[in-house]
Amino acid sequence: MRWSTFLPVGALVALGRAIPTPSKRLPTRDLYPNNYGPNNNYPNDYYPNQDTSSSSGSSPYLRRAVPTGLIINHCTTPGIVALTFDDGPYIYTTQLLDKLASFSPPIHATFFVNGANWVSAIDDESTPYPGILRRMLSEGHQIASHTWSHLDLTTASTAQRVEQVTKLEDVLLRVVRVKPKYIRPPYATCENGCLEDLEGMGYHVVNFDLDTKDYENDSESGIQVSVNKFNSELGSNPATDSAIVLSHDVHRWTVERLVDEMVGTVRARGFRTGTVGECLGDPESGWYA
Ligand SMILES: *[C@@H]1O[C@H](CO)[C@@H](O)[C@H](O)[C@H]1NC(C)=O
Ligand SMILES: [Zn+2]
Repeated sequence: MRWSTFLPVGALVALGRAIPTPSKRLPTRDLYPNNYGPNNNYPNDYYPNQDTSSSSGSSPYLRRAVPTGLIINHCTTPGIVALTFDDGPYIYTTQLLDKLASFSPPIHATFFVNGANWVSAIDDESTPYPGILRRMLSEGHQIASHTWSHLDLTTASTAQRVEQVTKLEDVLLRVVRVKPKYIRPPYATCENGCLEDLEGMGYHVVNFDLDTKDYENDSESGIQVSVNKFNSELGSNPATDSAIVLSHDVHRWTVERLVDEMVGTVRARGFRTGTVGECLGDPESGWYA
C-alpha cells in the first residue's frame, strides 16, 4: 500500500487494487498529530499535508511533512532510488564524488557522515575531509548525521546521545555551515528512548529498505554478492517501487564496482536516483535546520 499516496486513485483502481475512497482514507491532523510516537508504524500510505502555503493545488498528496519520532525505512516517492553512503568520509570518498558527478545526469546521493570514525576528525583542515564535505554540498548531495563516533544509540544514555549529535552538528556548522535534520542511527538501532531524544533534537530518523551488505564482501570478486543482492531486491516497477539503499563509502569495492552496477540497474529499470530528502518529498530547505 505504501506507494498509493502518489498515484491517482484511478490508476490504483485500474490496477485492480481494492482501496477505500480518498475521503475515507485521508487522515486529519487529529488522527495523525505531529508526534506519531516511537512505537507507531510509519504511516507509509500517507501523512497529512502540513504545507498550507503550498500553491500546488489542494491535493494533500503532493506535499508531505516528513515525520519525526519514528524510523523511516521507505521512500514515499515511487521511482526514486536513494543511494546512501554511511560511515565516511574516508579515503575513497573523493573517488566516489568524482564517479557520481561523471554520470549523465549526475547522481545526487546522501552521505550519513561521522565526525570521527574511519578518520579521526573531519574538521581537520590539514586533511582532505573538510573540502570533501564542502564538495558534497556544492555538488547537490545531501549531508546527514550518523553521529560523532558511531556510538550505539540504543544503549547510550540521553546525555551521550545529545553529545553524539551536537558534536557533529557543531563541526558541520563550522565546516559546511549546515546542521542536518536527517540522521541514521549507527547499527540501524534506536530504542530505549533514543527516538524521543532524537525527536527532541529535531531529527528525522532514516534507516533503509535495501541493504547491499557491501561491508561483508569488500573484494574484487566478493562485491558481486552485493551487486546480485541489489539487483534482486530492487523492484522492477518505477511507478510503484523505490528504495533507500545502504552502502558505505569507506569500502574500496563499493566505490570501484558496486556504485556503477547499481546505477546501471537503476537506469535500466527506469528508476532515477535522488537524495533521501527528495525520495521523501522534502524540498532541500527541509534537509537542514
Ligand atoms: C560474502 O560474505 C559472506 C558473509 O561474510 C560470506 O559468507 C561469503 O562467503 C562471502 N562471499 C564472497 C564471494 O566473498
Ligand atoms: Zn554506520
